[in-house]
Amino acid sequence: MAAEAPTIPLLTPYKLGKFNLSHRVVLAPLTRQRSYGNVPQPHAILYYSQRTSKGGLLIAEATGVSDTAQGYPDTPGIWTKEQVEAWKPIVDAVHAKGGVFFCQIWHVGRVSNQGFQPNGQAPISSSDKPLTPQIRANGIDVADFTPPRRLRIEEIPQIVNDFRLAARNAIEAGFDGVEIHGAHGYLIDQFMKDQVNDRTDQYGGSLENRCRFALEIVEAVSKEIGADRVGIRLSPFANYMESGDSNPEALGLYMAESLNKYGILYCHMVEPRMKTVGEKSECPHNLVPMRKAFKGSFFVAGGYDREDGNKAIAENRADLVVYGRLFLANPDLPKRLKLNAPLNKYNRDTFYISDPVLGYSDYSFLEDIA
Ligand SMILES: Cc1cc2nc3c(=O)[nH]c(=O)nc-3n(C[C@H](O)[C@H](O)[C@H](O)COP(=O)(O)O)c2cc1C
Repeated sequence: MAAEAPTIPLLTPYKLGKFNLSHRVVLAPLTRQRSYGNVPQPHAILYYSQRTSKGGLLIAEATGVSDTAQGYPDTPGIWTKEQVEAWKPIVDAVHAKGGVFFCQIWHVGRVSNQGFQPNGQAPISSSDKPLTPQIRANGIDVADFTPPRRLRIEEIPQIVNDFRLAARNAIEAGFDGVEIHGAHGYLIDQFMKDQVNDRTDQYGGSLENRCRFALEIVEAVSKEIGADRVGIRLSPFANYMESGDSNPEALGLYMAESLNKYGILYCHMVEPRMKTVGEKSECPHNLVPMRKAFKGSFFVAGGYDREDGNKAIAENRADLVVYGRLFLANPDLPKRLKLNAPLNKYNRDTFYISDPVLGYSDYSFLEDIA
Protein backbone atom coordinates (compact mmCIF):
# COMPACT_ATOMS: atom_id res chain seq x y z
CA MET A 1 0.00 0.00 0.00
CA ALA A 2 1.26 3.49 -0.85
CA ALA A 3 2.30 5.59 2.13
CA GLU A 4 0.08 8.58 3.03
CA ALA A 5 1.45 11.76 1.45
CA PRO A 6 2.77 14.09 4.16
CA THR A 7 0.44 16.96 5.02
CA ILE A 8 1.19 20.16 3.17
CA PRO A 9 0.24 23.62 4.47
CA LEU A 10 -2.58 23.97 1.90
CA LEU A 11 -4.22 20.83 3.22
CA THR A 12 -4.32 21.84 6.88
CA PRO A 13 -7.65 22.74 8.52
CA TYR A 14 -8.71 26.32 9.11
CA LYS A 15 -11.49 27.84 11.16
CA LEU A 16 -13.11 30.54 9.03
CA GLY A 17 -15.39 32.20 11.57
CA LYS A 18 -18.07 29.63 12.27
CA PHE A 19 -17.07 27.46 9.33
CA ASN A 20 -14.71 24.59 9.98
CA LEU A 21 -12.72 24.18 6.80
CA SER A 22 -10.76 20.99 6.31
CA HIS A 23 -8.25 22.62 3.93
CA ARG A 24 -7.25 25.98 2.48
CA VAL A 25 -7.81 25.50 -1.25
CA VAL A 26 -10.72 27.72 -2.33
CA LEU A 27 -12.65 27.72 -5.61
CA ALA A 28 -12.35 31.22 -7.12
CA PRO A 29 -15.39 33.04 -8.45
CA LEU A 30 -15.45 32.08 -12.14
CA THR A 31 -17.90 33.52 -14.64
CA ARG A 32 -18.93 30.75 -17.04
CA GLN A 33 -21.80 32.38 -18.96
CA ARG A 34 -24.02 29.33 -18.91
CA SER A 35 -26.91 30.84 -16.95
CA TYR A 36 -29.33 31.36 -19.81
CA GLY A 37 -31.40 34.51 -19.46
CA ASN A 38 -29.57 35.32 -16.20
CA VAL A 39 -31.14 32.26 -14.50
CA PRO A 40 -28.84 29.62 -12.96
CA GLN A 41 -29.32 26.30 -14.76
CA PRO A 42 -29.52 22.67 -13.58
CA HIS A 43 -26.15 21.91 -15.22
CA ALA A 44 -24.52 24.10 -12.55
CA ILE A 45 -25.53 21.47 -9.96
CA LEU A 46 -23.05 19.00 -11.40
CA TYR A 47 -20.37 21.63 -12.08
CA TYR A 48 -20.30 22.98 -8.53
CA SER A 49 -20.78 19.63 -6.81
CA GLN A 50 -17.82 18.24 -8.77
CA ARG A 51 -15.68 20.99 -7.25
CA THR A 52 -16.94 20.42 -3.71
CA SER A 53 -14.94 18.61 -1.06
CA LYS A 54 -15.96 18.04 2.53
CA GLY A 55 -14.98 21.18 4.44
CA GLY A 56 -13.92 23.03 1.28
CA LEU A 57 -14.93 26.62 0.48
CA LEU A 58 -16.40 27.55 -2.89
CA ILE A 59 -17.14 31.05 -4.16
CA ALA A 60 -19.83 31.15 -6.82
CA GLU A 61 -19.38 33.06 -10.06
CA ALA A 62 -20.18 36.78 -10.16
CA THR A 63 -23.95 37.12 -9.76
CA GLY A 64 -25.90 40.26 -10.67
CA VAL A 65 -27.64 42.25 -7.95
CA SER A 66 -30.20 43.94 -10.19
CA ASP A 67 -31.44 44.34 -13.75
CA THR A 68 -28.84 47.06 -14.39
CA ALA A 69 -25.95 44.90 -13.12
CA GLN A 70 -25.29 42.80 -16.24
CA GLY A 71 -22.64 43.27 -18.90
CA TYR A 72 -22.07 39.78 -20.33
CA PRO A 73 -24.44 37.24 -21.85
CA ASP A 74 -25.91 34.55 -19.62
CA THR A 75 -24.38 35.49 -16.28
CA PRO A 76 -26.57 34.58 -13.30
CA GLY A 77 -28.54 37.00 -11.17
CA ILE A 78 -30.05 36.92 -7.70
CA TRP A 79 -32.60 39.72 -7.77
CA THR A 80 -35.71 37.76 -8.83
CA LYS A 81 -37.66 34.99 -7.11
CA GLU A 82 -37.01 32.73 -10.11
CA GLN A 83 -33.25 33.20 -9.79
CA VAL A 84 -33.32 32.54 -6.04
CA GLU A 85 -35.29 29.33 -6.60
CA ALA A 86 -32.89 28.26 -9.36
CA TRP A 87 -29.88 28.67 -7.06
CA LYS A 88 -31.40 26.45 -4.34
CA PRO A 89 -30.67 23.01 -5.83
CA ILE A 90 -27.14 24.12 -6.72
CA VAL A 91 -26.45 25.27 -3.17
CA ASP A 92 -28.08 22.11 -1.79
CA ALA A 93 -25.77 19.93 -3.88
CA VAL A 94 -22.69 21.70 -2.49
CA HIS A 95 -23.98 21.35 1.06
CA ALA A 96 -24.82 17.68 0.51
CA LYS A 97 -21.12 17.04 -0.06
CA GLY A 98 -20.07 19.08 2.97
CA GLY A 99 -18.94 22.24 1.17
CA VAL A 100 -19.25 25.85 2.32
CA PHE A 101 -20.66 28.09 -0.42
CA PHE A 102 -20.48 31.88 -0.76
CA CYS A 103 -22.17 33.84 -3.53
CA GLN A 104 -20.20 36.61 -5.23
CA ILE A 105 -22.55 39.57 -5.68
CA TRP A 106 -21.81 41.93 -8.53
CA HIS A 107 -22.65 45.05 -10.49
CA VAL A 108 -20.65 45.67 -13.68
CA GLY A 109 -21.31 49.42 -13.82
CA ARG A 110 -19.96 50.79 -17.10
CA VAL A 111 -18.62 47.42 -18.33
CA SER A 112 -21.90 47.00 -20.18
CA ASN A 113 -23.91 48.33 -23.05
CA GLN A 114 -27.49 49.30 -23.80
CA GLY A 115 -28.29 45.80 -24.99
CA PHE A 116 -27.94 44.47 -21.43
CA GLN A 117 -29.86 47.32 -19.81
CA PRO A 118 -33.56 47.68 -19.10
CA ASN A 119 -35.28 49.81 -21.77
CA GLY A 120 -31.97 50.20 -23.59
CA GLN A 121 -30.79 52.81 -21.11
CA ALA A 122 -27.14 53.74 -20.57
CA PRO A 123 -25.16 51.71 -18.00
CA ILE A 124 -24.45 53.45 -14.70
CA SER A 125 -21.08 54.31 -13.18
CA SER A 126 -19.28 56.71 -10.87
CA SER A 127 -18.44 58.73 -13.93
CA ASP A 128 -19.53 59.33 -17.52
CA LYS A 129 -16.08 58.36 -18.83
CA PRO A 130 -16.55 55.80 -21.61
CA LEU A 131 -14.61 52.57 -21.88
CA THR A 132 -12.80 51.87 -25.16
CA PRO A 133 -14.05 48.84 -27.12
CA GLN A 134 -12.17 45.69 -26.13
CA ILE A 135 -11.59 42.23 -27.50
CA ARG A 136 -13.75 39.79 -25.59
CA ALA A 137 -12.21 36.93 -23.64
CA ASN A 138 -12.72 34.60 -26.60
CA GLY A 139 -10.14 36.71 -28.48
CA ILE A 140 -12.48 37.30 -31.43
CA ASP A 141 -15.49 39.44 -30.66
CA VAL A 142 -15.20 43.08 -29.81
CA ALA A 143 -17.21 44.21 -26.82
CA ASP A 144 -18.73 47.60 -27.37
CA PHE A 145 -19.54 49.62 -24.33
CA THR A 146 -22.20 52.30 -24.23
CA PRO A 147 -20.91 55.48 -22.56
CA PRO A 148 -22.14 55.32 -18.98
CA ARG A 149 -24.33 57.71 -17.07
CA ARG A 150 -22.85 59.14 -13.89
CA LEU A 151 -24.99 58.20 -10.88
CA ARG A 152 -26.59 61.18 -9.19
CA ILE A 153 -25.76 61.35 -5.51
CA GLU A 154 -29.38 60.72 -4.52
CA GLU A 155 -29.43 57.49 -6.59
CA ILE A 156 -26.51 55.89 -4.73
CA PRO A 157 -28.52 54.58 -1.74
CA GLN A 158 -30.69 52.63 -4.20
CA ILE A 159 -27.66 50.76 -5.55
CA VAL A 160 -26.39 50.08 -2.03
CA ASN A 161 -29.84 48.71 -1.29
CA ASP A 162 -29.67 46.42 -4.33
CA PHE A 163 -26.55 44.81 -2.84
CA ARG A 164 -28.33 44.46 0.51
CA LEU A 165 -31.33 42.75 -1.09
CA ALA A 166 -29.09 40.50 -3.17
CA ALA A 167 -27.32 39.40 0.01
CA ARG A 168 -30.65 38.67 1.65
CA ASN A 169 -31.67 36.66 -1.42
CA ALA A 170 -28.40 34.73 -1.33
CA ILE A 171 -29.13 33.64 2.23
CA GLU A 172 -32.68 32.79 1.19
CA ALA A 173 -31.21 30.59 -1.57
CA GLY A 174 -29.19 28.77 1.09
CA PHE A 175 -25.73 30.28 0.56
CA ASP A 176 -23.54 30.45 3.67
CA GLY A 177 -22.57 34.03 2.93
CA VAL A 178 -21.69 36.52 0.22
CA GLU A 179 -18.56 37.95 -1.30
CA ILE A 180 -18.98 41.55 -2.44
CA HIS A 181 -17.25 41.92 -5.81
CA GLY A 182 -15.12 45.02 -5.37
CA ALA A 183 -12.45 44.00 -7.91
CA HIS A 184 -11.58 44.04 -11.61
CA GLY A 185 -12.93 47.37 -12.77
CA TYR A 186 -16.62 46.78 -12.05
CA LEU A 187 -18.95 49.25 -10.36
CA ILE A 188 -17.43 49.30 -6.87
CA ASP A 189 -13.92 49.53 -8.33
CA GLN A 190 -15.13 52.34 -10.61
CA PHE A 191 -15.78 54.34 -7.46
CA MET A 192 -12.53 53.37 -5.70
CA LYS A 193 -10.05 53.96 -8.53
CA ASP A 194 -8.95 57.44 -9.47
CA GLN A 195 -8.48 56.55 -13.14
CA VAL A 196 -12.27 56.34 -13.37
CA ASN A 197 -13.76 58.31 -10.50
CA ASP A 198 -13.77 62.02 -11.34
CA ARG A 199 -16.58 63.01 -8.99
CA THR A 200 -16.43 66.19 -6.98
CA ASP A 201 -19.08 65.24 -4.40
CA GLN A 202 -18.60 63.15 -1.24
CA TYR A 203 -18.06 60.01 -3.36
CA GLY A 204 -15.04 61.36 -5.24
CA GLY A 205 -11.66 62.97 -4.71
CA SER A 206 -10.04 61.78 -1.48
CA LEU A 207 -9.41 58.12 -0.70
CA GLU A 208 -12.04 58.32 2.00
CA ASN A 209 -14.59 59.64 -0.47
CA ARG A 210 -13.77 57.15 -3.22
CA CYS A 211 -14.07 54.22 -0.79
CA ARG A 212 -17.33 55.48 0.70
CA PHE A 213 -19.57 53.58 -1.75
CA ALA A 214 -17.75 50.27 -1.13
CA LEU A 215 -17.93 50.70 2.63
CA GLU A 216 -21.60 51.67 2.56
CA ILE A 217 -22.27 48.42 0.74
CA VAL A 218 -20.19 46.47 3.27
CA GLU A 219 -22.13 48.08 6.11
CA ALA A 220 -25.56 47.52 4.57
CA VAL A 221 -24.84 43.90 3.66
CA SER A 222 -23.32 43.20 7.10
CA LYS A 223 -26.35 44.61 8.85
CA GLU A 224 -28.65 42.55 6.68
CA ILE A 225 -27.04 39.10 6.96
CA GLY A 226 -24.42 39.49 9.72
CA ALA A 227 -20.78 40.47 9.27
CA ASP A 228 -19.76 36.88 9.97
CA ARG A 229 -21.20 35.93 6.57
CA VAL A 230 -19.58 38.71 4.56
CA GLY A 231 -16.39 38.88 2.54
CA ILE A 232 -15.14 41.33 -0.08
CA ARG A 233 -12.88 40.89 -3.08
CA LEU A 234 -10.52 43.72 -4.00
CA SER A 235 -7.85 44.19 -6.67
CA PRO A 236 -6.20 47.51 -5.84
CA PHE A 237 -3.25 46.84 -8.15
CA ALA A 238 -5.17 45.72 -11.23
CA ASN A 239 -5.97 48.08 -14.07
CA TYR A 240 -8.40 45.78 -15.82
CA MET A 241 -11.19 47.62 -17.68
CA GLU A 242 -9.28 50.89 -17.50
CA SER A 243 -9.67 50.94 -13.72
CA GLY A 244 -6.20 51.66 -12.41
CA ASP A 245 -5.22 53.73 -9.42
CA SER A 246 -2.34 56.15 -9.01
CA ASN A 247 -1.56 54.79 -5.52
CA PRO A 248 -2.74 51.19 -5.17
CA GLU A 249 -0.80 50.52 -1.94
CA ALA A 250 -2.54 53.39 -0.19
CA LEU A 251 -5.90 52.28 -1.55
CA GLY A 252 -5.44 48.64 -0.50
CA LEU A 253 -4.24 49.65 2.93
CA TYR A 254 -7.04 52.15 3.47
CA MET A 255 -9.63 49.50 2.60
CA ALA A 256 -7.99 46.82 4.76
CA GLU A 257 -7.99 49.16 7.75
CA SER A 258 -11.49 50.52 7.16
CA LEU A 259 -12.99 47.05 6.81
CA ASN A 260 -11.94 46.27 10.38
CA LYS A 261 -14.69 48.61 11.58
CA TYR A 262 -17.37 46.26 10.28
CA GLY A 263 -15.84 43.03 11.54
CA ILE A 264 -16.46 41.18 8.28
CA LEU A 265 -15.37 37.59 7.90
CA TYR A 266 -12.79 37.97 5.19
CA CYS A 267 -10.90 40.15 2.78
CA HIS A 268 -9.96 38.50 -0.51
CA MET A 269 -7.24 40.28 -2.46
CA VAL A 270 -5.97 39.68 -5.95
CA GLU A 271 -2.17 39.65 -6.20
CA PRO A 272 -0.45 42.72 -7.65
CA ARG A 273 1.13 40.45 -10.29
CA MET A 274 -2.32 40.13 -11.90
CA LYS A 275 -2.58 43.39 -13.82
CA THR A 276 -5.39 41.94 -15.86
CA VAL A 277 -7.57 38.97 -14.99
CA GLY A 278 -5.53 36.36 -16.83
CA GLU A 279 -1.93 37.53 -17.19
CA LYS A 280 0.77 37.14 -14.58
CA SER A 281 3.61 39.68 -14.67
CA GLU A 282 6.64 40.58 -12.58
CA CYS A 283 5.79 43.10 -9.92
CA PRO A 284 7.67 44.65 -7.01
CA HIS A 285 4.59 44.93 -4.80
CA ASN A 286 3.00 42.44 -2.42
CA LEU A 287 -0.07 42.14 -0.19
CA VAL A 288 1.74 41.74 3.14
CA PRO A 289 0.91 45.26 4.42
CA MET A 290 -2.80 44.65 3.78
CA ARG A 291 -2.59 41.17 5.28
CA LYS A 292 -1.11 42.72 8.43
CA ALA A 293 -3.64 45.56 8.58
CA PHE A 294 -6.77 43.44 8.18
CA LYS A 295 -7.98 41.71 11.34
CA GLY A 296 -10.23 39.05 9.76
CA SER A 297 -9.30 36.14 7.52
CA PHE A 298 -7.20 37.00 4.50
CA PHE A 299 -7.48 35.24 1.12
CA VAL A 300 -5.07 35.66 -1.77
CA ALA A 301 -5.66 34.86 -5.45
CA GLY A 302 -3.94 35.14 -8.77
CA GLY A 303 -1.45 32.86 -10.47
CA TYR A 304 -1.05 30.40 -7.59
CA ASP A 305 0.26 26.87 -8.08
CA ARG A 306 0.95 24.18 -5.47
CA GLU A 307 4.34 25.40 -4.37
CA ASP A 308 3.42 29.03 -4.28
CA GLY A 309 0.21 28.38 -2.35
CA ASN A 310 1.98 26.26 0.24
CA LYS A 311 4.54 29.01 0.71
CA ALA A 312 1.88 31.68 1.20
CA ILE A 313 0.30 29.62 3.99
CA ALA A 314 3.59 28.53 5.56
CA GLU A 315 4.83 32.14 5.65
CA ASN A 316 1.50 33.34 7.04
CA ARG A 317 0.93 35.68 4.10
CA ALA A 318 -2.61 34.31 3.77
CA ASP A 319 -5.11 32.11 5.56
CA LEU A 320 -6.60 30.66 2.39
CA VAL A 321 -5.46 30.46 -1.22
CA VAL A 322 -7.97 30.92 -4.02
CA TYR A 323 -7.51 29.00 -7.26
CA GLY A 324 -9.21 29.97 -10.52
CA ARG A 325 -8.11 28.33 -13.72
CA LEU A 326 -6.52 25.31 -12.06
CA PHE A 327 -9.74 24.56 -10.17
CA LEU A 328 -11.81 25.16 -13.31
CA ALA A 329 -9.86 22.39 -15.07
CA ASN A 330 -9.34 20.11 -12.04
CA PRO A 331 -12.58 19.44 -10.18
CA ASP A 332 -10.65 17.47 -7.56
CA LEU A 333 -7.91 20.07 -7.16
CA PRO A 334 -7.49 19.75 -3.35
CA LYS A 335 -6.91 16.02 -3.74
CA ARG A 336 -4.45 16.51 -6.59
CA LEU A 337 -2.52 19.09 -4.58
CA LYS A 338 -2.46 16.73 -1.63
CA LEU A 339 -1.05 13.88 -3.71
CA ASN A 340 1.09 16.15 -5.87
CA ALA A 341 -0.67 14.53 -8.83
CA PRO A 342 -0.48 15.87 -12.39
CA LEU A 343 -3.00 18.57 -13.31
CA ASN A 344 -5.35 18.80 -16.29
CA LYS A 345 -4.66 21.77 -18.54
CA TYR A 346 -7.39 24.36 -18.86
CA ASN A 347 -8.82 25.21 -22.24
CA ARG A 348 -9.41 28.94 -22.64
CA ASP A 349 -11.58 28.40 -25.71
CA THR A 350 -14.33 26.89 -23.58
CA PHE A 351 -14.21 29.26 -20.59
CA TYR A 352 -17.18 31.31 -21.72
CA ILE A 353 -19.08 29.20 -24.25
CA SER A 354 -22.70 28.40 -23.47
CA ASP A 355 -22.39 24.62 -23.77
CA PRO A 356 -23.79 22.95 -20.62
CA VAL A 357 -21.12 20.24 -20.59
CA LEU A 358 -18.14 21.02 -22.82
CA GLY A 359 -15.30 22.70 -20.93
CA TYR A 360 -17.62 22.83 -17.94
CA SER A 361 -18.41 19.51 -16.28
CA ASP A 362 -16.29 17.29 -18.54
CA TYR A 363 -12.85 17.83 -16.99
CA SER A 364 -11.58 14.51 -15.68
CA PHE A 365 -11.03 13.36 -12.11
CA LEU A 366 -7.88 11.65 -10.98
CA GLU A 367 -9.52 8.21 -10.87
CA ASP A 368 -10.68 8.60 -14.49
CA ILE A 369 -7.07 8.75 -15.60
CA ALA A 370 -5.69 6.10 -13.26
C1 LIG B 1 -13.04 32.00 -16.79
C2 LIG B 1 -12.79 33.03 -15.73
C3 LIG B 1 -13.85 33.68 -15.13
C4 LIG B 1 -13.65 34.59 -14.09
N1 LIG B 1 -14.72 35.15 -13.47
C5 LIG B 1 -14.55 35.90 -12.36
C6 LIG B 1 -15.66 36.36 -11.60
O1 LIG B 1 -16.82 36.06 -11.90
N2 LIG B 1 -15.40 37.12 -10.51
C7 LIG B 1 -14.12 37.45 -10.13
O2 LIG B 1 -13.95 38.14 -9.12
N3 LIG B 1 -13.06 37.01 -10.82
C8 LIG B 1 -13.24 36.23 -11.91
N4 LIG B 1 -12.15 35.73 -12.57
C9 LIG B 1 -10.82 35.88 -11.97
C10 LIG B 1 -10.49 34.65 -11.11
O3 LIG B 1 -11.33 34.57 -9.98
C11 LIG B 1 -9.01 34.67 -10.64
O4 LIG B 1 -8.78 35.79 -9.85
C12 LIG B 1 -8.06 34.66 -11.83
O5 LIG B 1 -8.38 33.61 -12.72
C13 LIG B 1 -6.61 34.51 -11.38
O6 LIG B 1 -6.45 33.34 -10.60
P1 LIG B 1 -5.80 32.00 -11.25
O7 LIG B 1 -4.43 32.38 -11.71
O8 LIG B 1 -5.81 31.02 -10.10
O9 LIG B 1 -6.69 31.58 -12.39
C14 LIG B 1 -12.33 34.88 -13.66
C15 LIG B 1 -11.25 34.24 -14.30
C16 LIG B 1 -11.46 33.34 -15.30
C17 LIG B 1 -10.27 32.64 -15.93
